[in-house]
Amino acid sequence: MKILVTPSILSADFGKMQSEVDSVASADWIQLDVMDGHFVPNLSFGAPVAKWIKTDLQLDAHLMVSNPADRIEEFLTIGTKHITFHAETVKDTKSRRALIEAIKKRGATAGIALNPDTPVSEIDDVIEEVDLVLIMSVHPGFAGQSFIPSVLDKVRELRKSHPDLMIQIDGGIDAQTAKDAREAGANNLVAASAIFGASDRATAIREIRGN
Ligand code: DX5
Repeated sequence: MKILVTPSILSADFGKMQSEVDSVASADWIQLDVMDGHFVPNLSFGAPVAKWIKTDLQLDAHLMVSNPADRIEEFLTIGTKHITFHAETVKDTKSRRALIEAIKKRGATAGIALNPDTPVSEIDDVIEEVDLVLIMSVHPGFAGQSFIPSVLDKVRELRKSHPDLMIQIDGGIDAQTAKDAREAGANNLVAASAIFGASDRATAIREIRGN
């Protein structure tokens, strides 16, 4: 299974964003960590800022916001290819389906994210409809936190039931935790500090990819 590496610009230097993005060109996707100061205790940025990023990598929006439905359109408009919302923010099946459909209808892929304490069974209703499941390996809100190893059980469970699913993992990913995550079945590894904190970012990306 192909392994994708997705640098999260949360740990990039926002004063020189374009060169930061250019420095991770050997990765696969770029993650936009969108935080509203409500669902998570931190504020980051939205589409009005993200639209200035020029990259050949695919943009992936991780919506850590209480009302993801309000944000979908603006991210689609700036060309975001992958959009993920949190299961904890959209609880009923009908609303989840409507969001997934709104994202897919415009040619983007739809993902659903699970916080460390949320079980995989929480998304039984839409698991066959999403393109990606994001397993959070930290409590979302901040870069630089320690990886929570118990979430690997959720990765294994999902990989067993869904051999072809894109399983993304995010939080505390470095060369070592990436290896554990890959072995558990994750195939899309998100990292902020381990990539943007490295002096040689291409090497950091290669180590996370595992080759
Ligand atoms: C967590 C964010 C992550 C975070 C990861 O709140 O969703 O994407 O930036 O940062 P690191 O890789 O530093 O744990």
